[in-house]
Amino acid sequence: MATFQVHTSPPLRGEATIHTAKNSVLPILAAALLTNEPCSILATPKLTDVDMLCELMRSCGCQIDWDQETLNLRADDLCLPANDDPMRRMRASILIMGPLLARLGVARVTLPGGCAIGQRPIDLHIKGMQALGAAVSLRDGHIELSGRLHGAAVYLDMPSVGATENIMMAASLASGVSRIENAAKEPEIIDLAQCLNMMGARVSGAGSGTIIIQGVPRLRGVQYQPIPDRIEAGTLACATAIAGGNVLLRGARSEHLRALLFKLQESGVIVIEQREGLRVRGKAVQPITVRTMSYPGFPTDLQAPMMAVACYAPGTSVFTETVFENRYMHASELRRLGASIRVEDRVALIDGGAELHGSRVICSDLRAGAALIVAAVGARGDTYVEDPNGHIDRGYERIEESLTELGVPIKRLTAD
Ligand code: EPZ
Repeated sequence: MATFQVHTSPPLRGEATIHTAKNSVLPILAAALLTNEPCSILATPKLTDVDMLCELMRSCGCQIDWDQETLNLRADDLCLPANDDPMRRMRASILIMGPLLARLGVARVTLPGGCAIGQRPIDLHIKGMQALGAAVSLRDGHIELSGRLHGAAVYLDMPSVGATENIMMAASLASGVSRIENAAKEPEIIDLAQCLNMMGARVSGAGSGTIIIQGVPRLRGVQYQPIPDRIEAGTLACATAIAGGNVLLRGARSEHLRALLFKLQESGVIVIEQREGLRVRGKAVQPITVRTMSYPGFPTDLQAPMMAVACYAPGTSVFTETVFENRYMHASELRRLGASIRVEDRVALIDGGAELHGSRVICSDLRAGAALIVAAVGARGDTYVEDPNGHIDRGYERIEESLTELGVPIKRLTAD
């Protein structure tokens, strides 16, 4: 789909505006299925993951139209998805399960395929729907759910972001009170709860790990602008930590990025919280220890970009990926640039400080692709980051434009 040509970058300068968060927009899109009234999502990023979820929601009878950066939706004639294809291509499709079940009393989803970074099971999503009263059956690769939902208490064995979101949405129209224990605490969870409450839901405790939802008979339409993308901001901060310089990430919210900011500071980078956003200065010059955890721990989605930083910081950095079982595919491609990385199961040791050199590398998944572009910023000569499956455009809106604004010599070479 695209190849990005990246040349060694001078220190980064200027500012880039952070887009609205993919991982907030996707569940909030799904939440629009909970009402038959019009909903508008403002400043929606142009991402292929958004396009894919819109395609799936249209096949559920939801009207969706773009008006510049606003997505206008109306699900007043809802049905089960007629077209499964988007569900196979995108894990986040599972987020329509709770809303369909809550609105229609039935839902049918395909088992989302595993993806490059791991199996991505949905047992906790199913456990939540069953607790709320749904009967669940597996038929020719589809999961079929049916039932009138009632309040229930659900304990999540892992603080799953998607399962927390699905249960919150389903419970918002269930009869009675629901309680999610060991719920995910990510900022995107709080954002979804805020949007649901603006629709008339009664959700409390989002972000605390225990979420209480008092079901209501129906929800209203809403006009909502989701939070800025902390992972995009973190990715650009990592590029700065490699090339050095002084940039403003306009709109970034430092309270969503504490773990990353502490790690960047430990590596020698200066980060300054400003009213307009986050200012990042200087280079990473110290090795770091990174252990990914659910929020507020170090975000797994920034593990790959941070590993690119570690390749340039003299000394041995130690990474432990505790969230996904197979999220080091970028290591082999970083080695093509000259990085010295040893991977043993969930642990990666990076011997940083040597100069990296341009090469041809391939994206295996969204964040691995971002990490390769970030690493190329410091490599000598030209690096060609090939992205035949369009991973990068799933989660970053025109990443080459944001990096160009910061002074990075990057070009998007079209597929042909
Ligand atoms: C969300 O995925 C994000 N995606 C991911 O971002 C992110 O990496 C992940 O949360 C963790 O923060 C969206 O929000 C659209 P999980 P999700 O359920 O909800 C296990 C990106 O790059 N698990 O919190 O799918 C699972 O295997 C993407 O933007 C179960 O065992 O993640 C994993 O090990 C990648 N059973 C862990 O929990 C379940 O039923 C965390 O997964 C569900 C999950």
